[in-house]
Amino acid sequence: MRPIIAINAKVYYPHSFGAHLLRVLRALERIADEYDVETILAPPHTEIKEVSSIAKKTKVYAQSVDPVNPGAHTGSVIVEGIKDFVKGSIINHSEKRIRIDEIEVVVRKLNEYGLESLVCAPTPLTAASVAVLRPTMVAMEPPELIGTGISVSKAKPETITDTVNAVREIGFNGPILVGAGISTGDDVKKAIELGANGVLVASAVMKAKDPYEKLKEFAGASVASNA
Ligand code: G3P
Repeated sequence: MRPIIAINAKVYYPHSFGAHLLRVLRALERIADEYDVETILAPPHTEIKEVSSIAKKTKVYAQSVDPVNPGAHTGSVIVEGIKDFVKGSIINHSEKRIRIDEIEVVVRKLNEYGLESLVCAPTPLTAASVAVLRPTMVAMEPPELIGTGISVSKAKPETITDTVNAVREIGFNGPILVGAGISTGDDVKKAIELGANGVLVASAVMKAKDPYEKLKEFAGASVASNA
């Protein structure tokens, strides 16, 4: 399986918007050309159309989608509204949690439209629980490490091994990503050595002085440890 480098842009300002965001997209496109990795970018909802009009190799994902059908819902983002611009969506990020029955609804709706689903979970056992819903991929991120710069690979390596074991045990064969605090090539290398198929990252790339250099570090490490 090709290592996956998924970037959740969140809504850092100004980093996640306009020209700053497009700089990250261009960096992802470059590393997708230069390394045997799959790249994903989840921009803020307001930036999805522009990013998707430019992205070629990088899959554009929504950061979230609401578990509702078209109709009388105020402020909701529905699958039907984004389906022509994204390849999939993050679901149940720790900063945007929904109930397990709602996760099921969104995974099913995305699937109906041929879109991918990346379901997040805060612990190994929760990751296995959401994997039962057969999303495209799962991502385990200990919430207390998110945005700290202290990586899951270094601070809680056992949660990566436990996630891989628990998720594979229920027969889920899709990619398993890990995230939270991933900051260096070494963090990426360790995550992949422990059995992850890729990483889900935000601040280290979105706030990097040179996003391309940071992504190159990640891509190089992921390809080397995947070999
Ligand atoms: O979705 C990725 C995210 O929660 C990890 O954030 O800033 O620790 O890379 P960060």
